[in-house]
Amino acid sequence: MSPFRLTRTLPEDATEAALRADVLRGLTATPKWLPPKWFYDARGSELFEEITALPEYYPTRAEREILADRAGEIAAATGARTLVELGSGSSEKTRYLLDALTALRAYVPVDVSESALTGAGRALAAERPGLEVHALLADFTSALTLPVTPGPRLVAFLGGTIGNLLPAERAAFLASVRAMLAPGDALLLGTDLVKDPGVLVRAYDDAAGVTAAFDKNVLAVVNRELGADFVLDAFDHVALWDAGREWIEMRLRARTAQTVKVGALGLAVHFAAGEELRTEVSAKFRREGVGAELAEAGLELFHWWTDGEGRFALSLSVVR
Ligand code: SAH
Ligand code: AVI
Repeated sequence: MSPFRLTRTLPEDATEAALRADVLRGLTATPKWLPPKWFYDARGSELFEEITALPEYYPTRAEREILADRAGEIAAATGARTLVELGSGSSEKTRYLLDALTALRAYVPVDVSESALTGAGRALAAERPGLEVHALLADFTSALTLPVTPGPRLVAFLGGTIGNLLPAERAAFLASVRAMLAPGDALLLGTDLVKDPGVLVRAYDDAAGVTAAFDKNVLAVVNRELGADFVLDAFDHVALWDAGREWIEMRLRARTAQTVKVGALGLAVHFAAGEELRTEVSAKFRREGVGAELAEAGLELFHWWTDGEGRFALSLSVVR
């Protein structure tokens, strides 16, 4: 068995302070919103895994297909000895990279979900003798202190999670990733692509209601962590395609007029009947846009691979 370490980069009360600040800001704004990172307590991470298996949710299958086809080329192009994965979740698709990267010595999964990190990290450390697994419980939008591990490094950001950042957040995030990379290091970026709006909306509003449960889980997190009294059944899950911004927006729509108390903040939040709370954007991309955003951050789009149906793309940038 290999060593497994988990480093908590922030004290536990910092997470609560960040949640308080986000809830106060988001629920007193017009329109109301919450950042999507708060979906992912243990239940939220489980629900996300269920989403990845839904017939309507194609991104995971499409990205897995690309990784299965291209992991050898990625390994040859990067020769990575350390794989850093941002928003690693279950690390399930990562296995294609771990198998192909024959020089790999260290795997550094980074996530806000402690349950996902420990579950995936312990399993990988047990299965892969010789691989150091050093998990970081951290917010990837904040400055990261990576453990000292051998280079070159490959930083992977899979699943299309970059689309859950707003455009300005994306630019700041890509600049901070670029600052982490030394010559010879690389970034592997997964992006979901613009396609038929019907396909997109169905992927975020599945027939079995798993995405609706995932969406409402953020309310359960606020109830538990901040003593709020959201009634989950008093909200409907909504997914819509914003054609101008080319993103899916998930919202929770109040079924009736209601006031929700957030005990830890001493806050009473009024919702009008039909009022919506934005819980996530999931931006969809085109090749030119990805290339331009990478270039803006000082990164060159070196490889662009898509699945057979052109639904999802993986981009590779190697720092010269
Ligand atoms: N990469 C996996 C999981 C995607 S789900 C896949 O492709 O299937 C998104 C993951 O990012 C979740 O595990 C969630 O906990 C994590 N995450 C979301 N926002 C985050 C943030 N700001 N910092 C760190 N992790 C985050
Ligand atoms: C993690 N992220 C890329 C997912 C997405 O597709 O935007 C989160 C998700 N939201 C609803 N379904 C899945």
